[in-house]
Amino acid sequence: MNVIRTFEDYQKQYKKSVEHPENFWSEVASHFYWRKKWDKVLEWDFLKPEVKWFIGGKLNITENCLDRHLIKRANQTAIIWEPNNPEDSAKHITYQHLYDEVCRTANMLKANGVKKGDRVCIYLPMIPELAYTVLACARIGAVHSVVFAGFSAKSLTDRITDAGCKIVVTSDGAYRGDKTINLKGIIDQALESCPDVRKVIVKEHIRSNAPMKAGRDVWWHDEIKNAAPHCEAEEMDAEDMLFILYTSGSTGKPKGMVHTCGGYMVYTNYTFQTAFQYHEGQVYWCTADIGWITGHSYILYGPLSAGATTVIFEGVPSWPDWGRFWQTIDRHKVNIFYTAPTAIRSLQQAPLSFVEKYDLSSLKVLGSVGEPINEEAWQWYSKHIGKDKCPIIDTWWQTETGGFMISPIANVTNLKPAHATLPLPGVQPAVMNESGLEIEGNNIEGRLTIKYPWPSMARTIYGDHQRFKETYFSSFPGKYFTGDGCKRDEDGYYRITGRVDDIIIVSGHNLGTAEIESAIDEHSAVCETAVVGYPHDIKGQGIYAFVICYEKPAEEDKLRAEIKETVSKIIGPIAKPDKIQFVSGLPKTRSGKIMRRILRKVAEGDTSNLGDTTTLLDPGVVDEIKAGAI
Ligand code: WTA
Repeated sequence: MNVIRTFEDYQKQYKKSVEHPENFWSEVASHFYWRKKWDKVLEWDFLKPEVKWFIGGKLNITENCLDRHLIKRANQTAIIWEPNNPEDSAKHITYQHLYDEVCRTANMLKANGVKKGDRVCIYLPMIPELAYTVLACARIGAVHSVVFAGFSAKSLTDRITDAGCKIVVTSDGAYRGDKTINLKGIIDQALESCPDVRKVIVKEHIRSNAPMKAGRDVWWHDEIKNAAPHCEAEEMDAEDMLFILYTSGSTGKPKGMVHTCGGYMVYTNYTFQTAFQYHEGQVYWCTADIGWITGHSYILYGPLSAGATTVIFEGVPSWPDWGRFWQTIDRHKVNIFYTAPTAIRSLQQAPLSFVEKYDLSSLKVLGSVGEPINEEAWQWYSKHIGKDKCPIIDTWWQTETGGFMISPIANVTNLKPAHATLPLPGVQPAVMNESGLEIEGNNIEGRLTIKYPWPSMARTIYGDHQRFKETYFSSFPGKYFTGDGCKRDEDGYYRITGRVDDIIIVSGHNLGTAEIESAIDEHSAVCETAVVGYPHDIKGQGIYAFVICYEKPAEEDKLRAEIKETVSKIIGPIAKPDKIQFVSGLPKTRSGKIMRRILRKVAEGDTSNLGDTTTLLDPGVVDEIKAGAI
């Protein structure tokens, strides 16, 4: 399948993908099982914007992830489930077993009224049932909307309402290291404001005796009992919706990114196999949660469509101790390991003995995702985990792109620490200056756009195509704007420098500053807030909030704790500000715009040169902010 094994192969394939994109993707797509072949490969217009791939093609992605493997690898492990507690035994789920479970789950959903096109909210911990439910939706043509099980009731309400879900699949709770989380309680609270949800299927997991609401809530084990292990796959159009996944926007409301069946399948499979150089029989582990795009594309769809063995890990890296990742690699003889810089940085702080205790010799390839990886973390990862033998595949991509965009290819691309290196075949980046012109040549810096469609790009924002257009296709008409800045060095290698919009990436999670600000404003003592990111040793970026209160707070620390709690309730614990500074005013321009540039400098602790502040309404406020910096 358009196999790349050398750098020359890459150059050839890349050239072909740019000069004859339709032929290129048509060849890649021919390696899948289609009920009916497409009539036309691509139609596109980035001004509208409208993009369609494999037009007229009919398929079901689960036939490619499950059915077609049964001939050759029915008894091969599809999923290794590593539970939260390492003393409990792992589960090895074969392709045959996965097929049976997905079909049974699909029949259970059908029996509970789910039909093709319906949106199903999934709020589950990292247990096998999460994979079963996601794939079961795809099997019957229902659209899954997975909400990360760390999100709060309010975030759930917003996502359930926006997607118009009538059914939720959840569990009685989740383990997180030595803690438990009451997922069902959060669902109950969320559903108080979701009158349209008629059914909640609850998987018993932590045995918390969760209260069940009569007429609405049913137990998974009761419903699945009589479900048959066979379910005919629904025939889907290549452009039918496969899932919605929410990501933070630079205005308050999260965006429901819509991905479709055909192009997403082709691209996640191709990039998984190409970038990691996956070989038949290898064990692959991505530590992300399935609630994020990384889990969708590179725990489930990419690896499963490739017939790989994929690890689903329920635990956390720090429990029972900092050796958990390395123990798991040793235990399951993981060959390809894919994690986030924030995890690496926190593991780097622990004594090396936690690494040295385990045999990591099975590792062949390492991956990184979610934020720019700093050089120190890169070196540590390479030396102590990869033993200087494993390439680090620094994959740059986004919820919106569906799959890897700029990334080295294992053992093919020469690496440079902290560089995502080169575009994968099919990806045509263009770096733009602020006045909207493409910057040609190397040794340049600017805003990263993509000028040609690729198969797994999001097609719209659910229910808001206008916002899709404004967010991604208006800054540089005719191009997809990523929201990231980048450098292109003398070798044409890309280095992503970070967001250029009001999104901050905390421990690899995207958060909109506006979203956090409006959560803080919910506290009754708060009048106005401005939030910025600042460099944080472990999380990459931390959250710094400048808060104006109606009255000068009597007990600042108490109020800080309350504000954090408010944010945690409204968005989730990941969005809690790290630092809160109470101020009497914010640096605003005469037109009322907050000059975030100044706040960012203060938050970074660099107040020596704040630039021009003369356009501020009240330049005096800057001195007060500087003096009170934390
Ligand atoms: C950032 C995660 C540098 C980037 C797959 C992007 C990265 C945002 C990298 C998308 C990387 C992701 N190097 N930055 N390798 N990977 N990013 O939607 O700012 O959760 O725009 O998708 O993460 O985050 P998202």
